Amino acid sequence: MKRIVYVNGNYLGESEAKISVFDRGFLFADAIYEVTSVLEGKLIDFESHIKRLDRSLEELGLFCPISTDELLLVHRELMQRNQLTEGCVYMQISRGVADRDFAYSLEVEPTLVLFTQAKSLIDSTQAKSGIKVISVEDKRWGRRDIKTVQLLYPSMCKMMAIKAGADDAWLVQDGTVTEGTSNNAYIVKNRKIITRSLGNEILHGITRAAILMYAKSVQMEVEERTFTIDEVISADEAFITSATSFVTPVVEMDGQSLGDGTPGPVAVRLREIYIEESLRRAI
Ligand code: PDD
Repeated sequence: MKRIVYVNGNYLGESEAKISVFDRGFLFADAIYEVTSVLEGKLIDFESHIKRLDRSLEELGLFCPISTDELLLVHRELMQRNQLTEGCVYMQISRGVADRDFAYSLEVEPTLVLFTQAKSLIDSTQAKSGIKVISVEDKRWGRRDIKTVQLLYPSMCKMMAIKAGADDAWLVQDGTVTEGTSNNAYIVKNRKIITRSLGNEILHGITRAAILMYAKSVQMEVEERTFTIDEVISADEAFITSATSFVTPVVEMDGQSLGDGTPGPVAVRLREIYIEESLRRAI
């Protein structure tokens, strides 16, 4: 089946959908995005994704050409047209089309693009086996709290990980872990969940917020602080979270097994709770 995508008010076959070569998203990475997961044909944490989208827009002086209610309708229409029951909806807003210049006019009309990706999220081999990560220096820009499409460095780190026989990279700045290439990072020590606190250094993950809330609600202890690669290696377990990986255990760092080298009980339990609660709250 040919995928239907959304571009500026139109639903088009993916090969008919076109963006101008002068779009600032293409030329300057002047664009932001959100990825919302879909389970049983429903959206997970949609409102939180919209809140973060609004924050990213505000930080960059961008605006969304349609209302939140309309965005929800577009998400649903795309899910329906593509018969998406499990996977994600990708949404991107760029500043729009303007002749190439570092300065931009405030009159530019934004470009809004959405598409779906069918993916098996619940039944995931990585969740069952756990993933292997390597550590890489974090060389990204200083505003990682804004969800921009400047994803070249994370993409290169992911490729370095694959080349090293691992699945992903954890980024390290001034000796402490910031986050994964496209996920938030956690360790567990003596049953305490440790993750970096929010700031400009990491994306404020929607899954992170949900997981920390669920963990606290079942009396799991949470500490938001920086941690080092040495702490990762001596941790009882580790895991990542994101809209598409939910909670996925990490079983190896830089070639060294974590804990007993299999998915840890805290990560496994949090994944179960996350899926259960997400299905209950999905819209
Ligand atoms: N990535 N940190 C980074 C750098 C990310 O790119 C992401 C998400 C996260 C987790 O955020 P959330 O829980 O809101 O998905 C953390 C998405 C999934 C992506 O780029 O595909």
